Amino acid sequence: MTEARPGVDGRSAAGAASAPPRPDGHRGGAPADLRRIGIDPDHWYPVAVSRKVHRQRTFAAVFAGERIALYRGRSGKVYALEDRCAHRQVPLSMGVVEDEILRCCYHAWAYRGNGRISQIPYLPKGCERPPRGVRSYPVREAFGLVFVFPGDPEKAESAPFPVLPEFGSPTHRTMTFSRTVKCHYSFMHENLLDMNHQFLHRGVLGRIKPELLGYETGPRFVEARYLFVPAGGRKDRGAGLLSAEGFGGKDRPDVITIRTEYPYQTLHDVPEDAELPAFSLWAAYVPEDAEQRTNHAYGLLMIAKPPVPGALHVAWPFIRRFTERVFAQDRMAVEAEQRAWDEQGADRNHEVFPLILDVRDVLRSNGVPLPAPQEAGSGGVPSVNGHGAAADGPADGAVQVPPEPRPADRRQP
Ligand code: FES
Ligand SMILES: [Fe+2]
Repeated sequence: MTEARPGVDGRSAAGAASAPPRPDGHRGGAPADLRRIGIDPDHWYPVAVSRKVHRQRTFAAVFAGERIALYRGRSGKVYALEDRCAHRQVPLSMGVVEDEILRCCYHAWAYRGNGRISQIPYLPKGCERPPRGVRSYPVREAFGLVFVFPGDPEKAESAPFPVLPEFGSPTHRTMTFSRTVKCHYSFMHENLLDMNHQFLHRGVLGRIKPELLGYETGPRFVEARYLFVPAGGRKDRGAGLLSAEGFGGKDRPDVITIRTEYPYQTLHDVPEDAELPAFSLWAAYVPEDAEQRTNHAYGLLMIAKPPVPGALHVAWPFIRRFTERVFAQDRMAVEAEQRAWDEQGADRNHEVFPLILDVRDVLRSNGVPLPAPQEAGSGGVPSVNGHGAAADGPADGAVQVPPEPRPADRRQP
């Protein structure tokens, strides 16, 4: 089901006259605190930048408290194993790669990429081997990132994988971001989707009047379209280079489309009278700790090359500096939000913007319950390490959690 919603000024022709039924049919009741909702592990998540995972070397990655040992074999293929040796739980990321095998640093047990034990060097003849090795994760490498599937491996093949036609296209160049941000992943989605926070960036972007043109929502997505009208003020040089002014230096408004499509987020900037985006961003916010109060933000900023050869190369450091300044401001805000949640022990936000209420529902209804705090230290997931259990996922897929109640003015004009 897709619901088209008007902007706050009612400009969208596709606007619904009144609040439609909830995607899950829910109409009230106490909502679950979104900051206690875990991300659904049944998706592909980036856990490393490819160039950091060297051939014949390991890389210690993490997903929501689950430590994952990545390693790249001599062939160039990347493998992902539970980061605990089945013998005495020493991290396998401290081990040694031998061709396509990972050998634990302690007693030299060797593992194949599927997690099976290939050798216990000192095992006396006739002694029985442990029935299982360690859990392995499905891995895919794309867009300069290493993705793993932390959920039910049976679902990995059919799970949607990002499609980014601009990446690797000769018409675009990609800037990669990889940062830890100390907040629940939901704050990241809300930050980017709510363009009313441009005040925060006034020193970098100048004064901007974002105008919501309209938005659509469904069970798994929210997509908002904004018109960005420059309203004067000083702006970072990189902002002009990246935006619709492009390299021509004209002050045209931009139409920015931002979409949360669970669990990813995208942004497209299309100059008002252009067909192709001046730039687009793809982002994933991957929880690091079991309580999911920290996320690793991976971003791919794909920038269209201007007609003048070499111009983008010259502009690159300015664009990098500009995006770093904007990101630092956003990080300051979302980390402050998380600190407030930590201090208050609950979400005391008074959100008023309809599409943010909708994206909260999307994140809530597609997420999974977090383990209680006392369990959280264990990683909150069943481990197959040495216990002979099936290598199953940490949770039984998405659960339906009630959404938060809507204020009366939730209904659109
Ligand atoms: S702890 Fe890994 S081989 Fe002993
Ligand atoms: Fe921002």
